[in-house]
Amino acid sequence: MVSWLMAETLASAAQRLAELRGEIAEHNRRYYEDDAPVIADRDYDRLYRELLHLEMRFPQLVTADSPSQRVGGQPLKAFTQVTHRAPMLSLDNTYSEEEVGAFYRRIEKLSPNEDVPVVVEPKVDGVAVSLLYENGRLRYAATRGDGTTGEDVTQNVRTISSIPRQLKGAAPELFEVRGEVYMTKDGFAKLNAERSEVGLSVFANPRNSAAGSLKQLDPAITAQRPLGVLFYGTGAVEGIELTHHSQLFALLKKLGLPCAERWWEAQSLEEILSAIHQLDKVRHDFPYETDGAVVKVDSFAQRASLGMTAKSPRWAMAFKYEAERVETELLDIVIQVGRTGVLTPVAVLDPVTVSGSRVARATLHNEEEIQRKDIRIGDTVVIEKAGEVIPAVVSVRTDLRDGSEKNFRMPAQCPVCRSKLVKEEGQVAVRCVNAQCPAQLKRRIEHFASRGAMDIEGLGEAMVEQLVSRELVRAVSDIYRLTSAQLDELKRMGEKSVANLLEAIERSKQQPLWRLLFGIGILHVGVSAARALADHFANLDELMAASPEELQRIPDVGEVVGASIAQFFREPGNREMIEKLRATGSRLTSERKTAPTSDSKITGTTWVITGTLSKPRDEFAERIIQQGGKVSGTVSKKTSFVLAGEEAGSKLEKAKKLGIAIVDEAAFRKMS
Ligand code: IVH
Repeated sequence: MVSWLMAETLASAAQRLAELRGEIAEHNRRYYEDDAPVIADRDYDRLYRELLHLEMRFPQLVTADSPSQRVGGQPLKAFTQVTHRAPMLSLDNTYSEEEVGAFYRRIEKLSPNEDVPVVVEPKVDGVAVSLLYENGRLRYAATRGDGTTGEDVTQNVRTISSIPRQLKGAAPELFEVRGEVYMTKDGFAKLNAERSEVGLSVFANPRNSAAGSLKQLDPAITAQRPLGVLFYGTGAVEGIELTHHSQLFALLKKLGLPCAERWWEAQSLEEILSAIHQLDKVRHDFPYETDGAVVKVDSFAQRASLGMTAKSPRWAMAFKYEAERVETELLDIVIQVGRTGVLTPVAVLDPVTVSGSRVARATLHNEEEIQRKDIRIGDTVVIEKAGEVIPAVVSVRTDLRDGSEKNFRMPAQCPVCRSKLVKEEGQVAVRCVNAQCPAQLKRRIEHFASRGAMDIEGLGEAMVEQLVSRELVRAVSDIYRLTSAQLDELKRMGEKSVANLLEAIERSKQQPLWRLLFGIGILHVGVSAARALADHFANLDELMAASPEELQRIPDVGEVVGASIAQFFREPGNREMIEKLRATGSRLTSERKTAPTSDSKITGTTWVITGTLSKPRDEFAERIIQQGGKVSGTVSKKTSFVLAGEEAGSKLEKAKKLGIAIVDEAAFRKMS
């Protein structure tokens, strides 16, 4: 490799530029089109900077198709294309405070005899989107694409509950608003865990998973992803006069569009750097991942006179925070068998602290990943937290090898039950095909009993381990046949714990149908699809008899999920499991179609619904009425509860004054 420093001659510069353009184009394709980058941002930035430096030294070598002249990826073919009213620009970015200084000095110089106030705000690591509202109504949503033309992702964006279809209050005639769709850090961790369980490839970080979610051809899949949005700018605007960026935050709030809660005004380099440091302290508490701070000139008039370079404006710059990376020894690679039999190699590490927590293990996802990164047992590896949550091996210090490192090979048989392994077409994962494999059984039971599913307290990992190893439980339905005599025999089980566990198991029979549907582990059926199914069908029998076409028509289900459900219920083993659950007396009817039960906390109460909730208010009202409650529009002494969403206003105030119980959505779900 010739570095730019060594590229003394035009010929060697041209050669290096060709190499860099090829490499960068390939990384751009992987990043923007496949949503699967193979190098860290930092390494990409290094290549990109080398390209810029070389092009700066040899301007005669700049070509129109150089990555420096383009903004991002090509629009996807599968979506209709949208031409942005105003182009979507990119930002210059840096990891160095000196360069922030140079940026600010430059704009000060270009604005002589004027102060240049700037705004410093979070740089959200997600996917850029542009939404067009006409007279307050959402017309379309598009990705950035190449900056001029993007992909129409309206159907998918509509599934994000925090994106209003209608703006609040007096909306401008035309409002092209720009923002970043992100996946919450927690949601990303959960999604990856689920994907890896079922043998799907995992996302490298929340950004990629947000991008992948947005570009789903089936909006029902997008709907199941924990996506949010944060708006930070405008494109074409008509019917409203904005003169400063700092006015935008209040306007966005007024219109019901989410924006950053924290932002800083700064008038000097010192203040800019102080804001960047303050943001770095608080950003880890944000639900979304941030990879930097964006510094923007506040005044639009000043922005206009500063103008722009080929692809980014001169009035803004992104400062990127370094991801915390630490090195440690890879002691071993062990295999974990998941709920659906997928084998996952896991790195056993010499424990180290990364971004505030102790890390001793990191998933390596699959064999291809290990080969691609050339990870060997005994290596010194570099660890980082993907999405600030999940520890990941980013690279290997190959320079520290002494020859004793060992290559890793996936086993030829399941390490737990010795059954044969298969690799399905189009999937990266290797799977143990024995549905009776004790490791799979354990994971299935853990999932069934987990808090998000049947919520059986006391039936955690350690207990499941004992039950399965002693062959007391061979299938999910066996949980309901456990006796106190059997449980007495187990480790750490006193009389009280046995009684508590049996009671929790018994109680779980009354869990709503959606919990059971989620708990039995149908591929692609997450909580929201399970709820949609339970809301649609009166009971499990109706659901089992439904055709894939009927299933696909249900909102939150769609084609892929519908086909997976139909496939699940075609399997004789799964039908048998349902019959066994039925025999235990588990509830297989939907609460939606049954008469209100007198033990519901909602029966006989009066509710007022206010604020922005994740679903239309009617859906909550319907739930209340089904359970024998009443819904009213005004808060009075007769109101029993106020269900308050985000930005609830006067009704919430009144409820507080009258001392009426206020519940949020999470609490409501528990009650209903
Ligand atoms: S302003 C011309 N503000 O970062 C200004 N961008 O690397 C264009 N981003 O394309 C964008 N947070 O996708 C802006 N607060 C923020 C941002 C932000 C994230 C993204 C955006 C942009 C990319 C540039």
